[in-house]
Amino acid sequence: PVEVKKIVCIGAGYVGGPTCSVIAFKCPHIQVTIVDLNQARIDAWNDPDFNLPIYEPGLVDVVKACRGRNLFFSTEVDKGIAEADLIFVSVNTPTKKSGLGAGFAADLNYIELATRRIAEVSTSSKIVVEKSTVPCRTAESMRTILEANAKPGCNFDILSNPEFLAEGTAIDDLFAPDRVLIGSLQSASGKSACESLANVYANWIPRDRILTVGLWSSELSKLAANAMLAQRISSVNALSAVCEATGANIDEVAYAIGKDSRLGPKFLKASVGFGGSCFQKDILNLVYLCESLHLPAVAKYWHAVVEMNEHQKDRFSKKVVDTMFNTITGKKIAVLGFAFKKDTGDTRESAAITLVNHFRAERAHVSIYDPEVTESTIMLDLTNYGEISAESVQKNVKVAKTAEAACCGSNAVVIATEWDEFKTLDWQKIYDSMDKPAFVFDGRLILDREALIKIGFKVTTIGTGAI
Ligand code: NAI
Repeated sequence: PVEVKKIVCIGAGYVGGPTCSVIAFKCPHIQVTIVDLNQARIDAWNDPDFNLPIYEPGLVDVVKACRGRNLFFSTEVDKGIAEADLIFVSVNTPTKKSGLGAGFAADLNYIELATRRIAEVSTSSKIVVEKSTVPCRTAESMRTILEANAKPGCNFDILSNPEFLAEGTAIDDLFAPDRVLIGSLQSASGKSACESLANVYANWIPRDRILTVGLWSSELSKLAANAMLAQRISSVNALSAVCEATGANIDEVAYAIGKDSRLGPKFLKASVGFGGSCFQKDILNLVYLCESLHLPAVAKYWHAVVEMNEHQKDRFSKKVVDTMFNTITGKKIAVLGFAFKKDTGDTRESAAITLVNHFRAERAHVSIYDPEVTESTIMLDLTNYGEISAESVQKNVKVAKTAEAACCGSNAVVIATEWDEFKTLDWQKIYDSMDKPAFVFDGRLILDREALIKIGFKVTTIGTGAI
């Protein structure tokens, strides 16, 4: 196997940034350059005060330790490619908005453009690694493009190395992953390339956690993992509706079933619905794959996971309106949390967006607070990136600087993200500052329901029926 000395990562986003920063941190003998076409993003990665473009606990320390040593951020994509022995392709693969497969299939345009760039500027052989989440058999298309455009003497080995980190815990996940998965062709050169990449990870990850499989299994495993994870959430959310209707309590049910060692306790928290850039996108991608393989029953099965998630968000919004005497028009609703989960500033597909849109449609006044999401990001999400005018959104949406300010004078507080700081707010003080009756809707099951009821709040918690 080739000894990897220089790595380039194409795409300095939520995956490329943390992943390759950790590789640089753990492998001081390897030079790592992370490139992106987005100048503002690269400038932020290079910010002298380390105001990095993404918030992730522990990330700043990793970047501080190696930036300028063996970790570089640059917009010089071609130079980065030309110098590297190993190339991570970590570009975005969003759901297609138009054309064939719109609303389901992954948009592979960014992957193709990056692949064509690699073919064009490479003057030596490379190991090309798919880090992005892609449909099964994308590596084959990449290989065709690379081989058709390669300079003489340049060989390309393609590996699949999907990323399993979770936003909010990315650095911990990268330091000690449950497993690293590498897929390769089973040819001699495929296996040798696989060994080269495995040797990079082996600098800090025990060998028995580095799994090597075939290319197609590796690609499919990423979609499968996300589909199964999201399915657990939709299953528990479906049960939360039954709990509310019967007087059962979803936390108690989750605790009871999680003790079964075949099920395990993790990922059984009911909520207002999952968000994030991956679950929905990857399931829709799997659904599309199944449809194209003429497996409609399989496609329908997985699609139900996304449908249940939409249902949960709608059900929760409806519950807010129903509970507040069937109208929220003109009422003030404080939404605490806008990120799709705690410990990240990422709002992609956040349930909070859907909730606020529902509240706006009912002509409520919404006041939003999130510790990590900026006002400009919130406005981009609520205007659907400029599709709706900012003025019309600002008419009934305000962004507050503190949770207390968001809640002051409101009729209801809605917990949309499970930030720890919401648990320890002075709820008595908040109650005193609100209109009465004061409602709390806990969409994340993080608050002490009994304590809030004692203060005087009317509390509605996901998955908790009247006793
Ligand atoms: P992102 O949108 O944050 O980052 C992608 C970056 O690639 C952007 O900054 C974009 O400017 C850049 N880019 C696109 N085309 C380029 C090109 N031709 N040359 C140079 N730069 C280019 O996306 P994110 O979240 O990092 O996701 C990347 C991939 O990783 C996706 O396929 C996603 O499904 C997958 N993934 C994401 C996870 C997450 O938690 N966000 C977890 C695991 C996988």
